[in-house]
Amino acid sequence: MLKIIQYPTIDSTMDEAVRLSEQAEGLEFAVLADEQTQGRGRHGRTWVSNKGNLYLSVVTRPVPLELLTQYALLWGVVLRDVISSFLPNQLIQCKWPNDVLLNGFKVAGLLIERSHQPDALVVGVGVNLLHCPEETMFPATCLKAHTAQIPSTIELSKSLIDKYQQYREEWEKHGFSHVRESCLKSLWKLNDEIIISQNTGSVVGIFETIDENGALILKTKSGYERLLVGDLIR
Ligand code: BTN
Repeated sequence: MLKIIQYPTIDSTMDEAVRLSEQAEGLEFAVLADEQTQGRGRHGRTWVSNKGNLYLSVVTRPVPLELLTQYALLWGVVLRDVISSFLPNQLIQCKWPNDVLLNGFKVAGLLIERSHQPDALVVGVGVNLLHCPEETMFPATCLKAHTAQIPSTIELSKSLIDKYQQYREEWEKHGFSHVRESCLKSLWKLNDEIIISQNTGSVVGIFETIDENGALILKTKSGYERLLVGDLIR
């Protein structure tokens, strides 16, 4: 099990993970905070980080750039499995490429950043346990709205790290097919019409599948598109 370093308050567990990794070259570890004063989400958004939810960053050894989409989906499946274990009778889905939904509402998000000195990945995990922000771009929920059995943040962190290590070992030995199949079983909006927002604008089409590299395959009016990044907005 990786060492988990805990803080009552920190700016962002992402930043603390990078600061610590600069002093501890080659090590894998995790940073857990009760609250963050500068929590951030994807695309430079603010991640509201008051006490009561999970704010975790895991520093892991790097993966080649071309495997990053697979790696993000691997973490999505890890999060989905662990959240499902606490809510066995609810609908928990992966939302390509980085979120987990509970009954169609966002309950958890992932932020993956690269640290260069030393070369490592920092995986930020936010899970809404006791509360969730209102008026978000995508509607959110929290575990407390669905169960009385809320895991502690340390228990949840240990389960996530443990599951991650199992999936990573399997992925390194056998490749992406197991993660891909597992993800396809509970992928939000698969076979439906979706809108993906990208830096260059939005694209609409039918969500056909994810391919052997984790790219989203979209059937548009003008043919198939293969997307490696983007925000699935509806
Ligand atoms: C997203 O859905 O936009 C990703 C959210 C990631 C939030 C987590 S909370 C722990 C870590 N520290 C941060 O500042 N962000 C990530």
